[in-house]
Amino acid sequence: MASDVTALPLEGRRILLGITGSIAAYKAAVLCRLLKCAGAEVRVVMTPLAKQFITPLTMATLSKNPILVEFFDPENGAWNSHVALGEWADCYLIAPATANTLAKMAAGVADNLLLTTYLSARCPVVVAPAMDLDMYAHEATQQNLRTLRSRGVEIIEPAEGELASGLRGKGRMSEPEQITAFVAELLDEKKKSLAGKRMIVTAGATIEAIDPVRFISNHSSGKMGYAIAGELAARGAEVTLITGRTALSTPRGVRRVDILSAAEMYAEAVRAYAEADGGVMCAAVADYTPAEVAQTKIRKHDGEMTLTLRRTQDIAAELGRQKGDRLLVGFALETDDEEAHAEEKLRRKNFDFIVLNSLRDAGAGFRGDTNKVTFIDRAGREELPLLSKREVARRIADKIETFLK
Ligand code: PMT
Repeated sequence: MASDVTALPLEGRRILLGITGSIAAYKAAVLCRLLKCAGAEVRVVMTPLAKQFITPLTMATLSKNPILVEFFDPENGAWNSHVALGEWADCYLIAPATANTLAKMAAGVADNLLLTTYLSARCPVVVAPAMDLDMYAHEATQQNLRTLRSRGVEIIEPAEGELASGLRGKGRMSEPEQITAFVAELLDEKKKSLAGKRMIVTAGATIEAIDPVRFISNHSSGKMGYAIAGELAARGAEVTLITGRTALSTPRGVRRVDILSAAEMYAEAVRAYAEADGGVMCAAVADYTPAEVAQTKIRKHDGEMTLTLRRTQDIAAELGRQKGDRLLVGFALETDDEEAHAEEKLRRKNFDFIVLNSLRDAGAGFRGDTNKVTFIDRAGREELPLLSKREVARRIADKIETFLK
């Protein structure tokens, strides 16, 4: 029988509500209530100053969860893990966000639980600024907001109106109804768009053994590929992440397959792609591997030493051959004549589009949290500004959606 009960917009969603020390903190009570009414489970983290504006008792009663302020409970020493909080949340909503907290977020300061949780959160982060009009308009605040936006933080613009100072202007925190609607839309869009799609993502560096001690590898940290895997999973795709050795933890909802060498990555990628709707080849795969792996540690001796290398199999090119009507997205990491090399790889490996990053661009490529990329497909090119890897992952996911539609 068909049901006439419409699902609540935030049903099953876990929202971590961060409250900072602003007079607008009183609106956090209504906001918490609206989030709960929309079906969300809400936990609240407050800065020490926020307690002066709204009591933890009010927020605990409304959220039906204990309020977190300190790194540990002074009564019994129990540790409030910012990592676990960040992992728990589907969305970290900081409302109100003061100029002080925004500045600390932009600078990576970690002197309270709300901030350490921000630094370790892997979910979408949304801030609703609240402050006096001149503080909001100040170039320092605007610069901080630009920095946060470039790192993928969603910003709910404050409204114009009467402010606590008695002045009128832009700085009032957006109303709780609008903030709730914003969060619901953000999560809804991500939930549905790739549901039912199976994707593989390769990430990180491969390791080619020379002997039991040494190897050939490269500088890939896996950050770019992990951000893509996380974003695709957040949009509902079933993601298999085939990864070289990294220090990163597995993005929520992603199936992870660990490999070491290019040959191992080849075997896993070919197997997983056969079952998939598409693949994103972000790994930095060795093009050459030692022709022979010494069984014992190679001893040093006078004079030069020659290592004979042989070609590895090109994983992307093989998937390009098998592709059929599946999607295949490649990367090109270049140091010179970038576009010509990327276009050649686009054609030779049969990619639908290729993501070019150049080591000549500051902030692009290996290890950092940012990247500067150009999308190239058969219709043309689109150059993006320097963005967080998380934001680049979102743009890639947006483009994947247009191809899979
Ligand atoms: O991991 P990070 O530190 O975040 O860094 C991200 C990154 C710089 C590694 C990433 O943005 C990137 O550029 N990845 C591709 C690196 C690379 O090896 O590019 P390439 O131009 O050599 O290879 C072209 C394409 O073929 C790539 O999609 C690559 O994954 C694939 N390839 C290459 C060789 C091979 N044997 N098999 C492959 O599948």
